[in-house]
Amino acid sequence: MPSVDDCQIITLPKVASDRGSLSFVEANGSIPFDIKRIYTTYDIPTDAVRGGHSHIEQHELVIAVNGSFEIELDDGKHKKTIFLRKAYEGLHIVPGMWRELKNFSSGSVVLVMASDVYKESDYIRDYELFRKNR
Ligand code: TYD
Repeated sequence: MPSVDDCQIITLPKVASDRGSLSFVEANGSIPFDIKRIYTTYDIPTDAVRGGHSHIEQHELVIAVNGSFEIELDDGKHKKTIFLRKAYEGLHIVPGMWRELKNFSSGSVVLVMASDVYKESDYIRDYELFRKNR
């Protein structure tokens, strides 16, 4: 069974100069899955809670490209909360993790890189069902 400890922060390269900073992700093994989809969430009310699901097979890398928020991870046995606020840090979320994104700062932008295209069949959105399968 996957554990919250399998979800780790990946520090991306950062090229800083007096013209600003640049970070990147490449399909060369720098993250542990191939990216097939990128999506963003933005205009998020500060009291909103996003996520509220787990994935069956998909991996994700979640980056706070602007602002900050918390990600609460739950593997059915243990929970772990991670605070993201740096555009060069991505949280790798392995399959089988219930996740909730909350405590958004104003103007937060969430960038997610996912290992597959959007498939509703890969989601578990019922927490009781998620727990039952742990
Ligand atoms: P949802 O899973 O509720 O977003 P979050 O995890 O950020 O809370 O998705 C919101 C809606 O967007 C839902 O109807 C599914 C749709 N959606 C897509 O069409 N494509 C995508 O890549 C994603 C992530 C969601």
